[in-house]
Amino acid sequence: MAPDGPVLVFDSGLGGLTVLREIRYLLPYEQLLYVADDAAFPIGRWPEDQLKDHLLSLFDDLLGEHRPKAVVIACNTAFTLAGEALRDRYPDVPFVGTVPAIKPAAERTSSGLISVLATPGTVRRAYTRTLIDSFASQCHVRLVGSDLLAELAEQHLRGDAVADADLLSEISDCFLESAGKRTDIVVLACTHYPFLANRFRKIAPWPVDWLDPAEAIARQLVRVLGSDTLQNSTGKEDIARFTSKTEDKGLVRLLAGFGLQLRTAGT
Ligand code: DGL
Repeated sequence: MAPDGPVLVFDSGLGGLTVLREIRYLLPYEQLLYVADDAAFPIGRWPEDQLKDHLLSLFDDLLGEHRPKAVVIACNTAFTLAGEALRDRYPDVPFVGTVPAIKPAAERTSSGLISVLATPGTVRRAYTRTLIDSFASQCHVRLVGSDLLAELAEQHLRGDAVADADLLSEISDCFLESAGKRTDIVVLACTHYPFLANRFRKIAPWPVDWLDPAEAIARQLVRVLGSDTLQNSTGKEDIARFTSKTEDKGLVRLLAGFGLQLRTAGT
């Protein structure tokens, strides 16, 4: 029997909500289950072996419990490490991944200077190197790993103050001037960062295109589901689950703004 559960959207924290909102525009009738592995957040600094084992064991539980019709890994750090292993382990589950948008950036750049802003994990990945070699060998690609931005994005989203100076010190390495040319595209290669894009625009030394792949990921999900997309509402609620089992009231309100009801395991 084909899995008939919701579309499961996964991230380590709140970043995947940037992808979930695009999915809802394109697929308004699908039931969405947002899973945040916030007990592990931030995963950008985790050692690769440990993180991969952790993700595979978490997905054993999630897929068994929810039988999703498709899974969107709305996290570059997780997908560039474990995407292939997840597809091998669950060949019947359609996975849609998130990878640094290096190919579209290489197609769009005028100056040939591109920066990829990501977690330290995504910057280190062999997957990211392969994307650069395959699609951007004609460009100068600067990889900028940030230790703090995912956490700063969560603070910003929850309404806590985040200083411009703290953001600027994380993004300033993205801006390169060489032989009269300047960086013209910064790839937002962590799903948390689009929440900060308007802040980045205000403090950037010059205007650039901040490339957010969320819409392209949602379109890929539409392609993967093919004719298996719901055309009428089922009336089922969209749900969020957090691995820390938090019931924080502020988080409940924030998730409601994304059309999600927070449920703790077993409810
Ligand atoms: N949102 C995740 C990504 O796209 C990473 C956040 C984290 O460090 O946990 O890479």
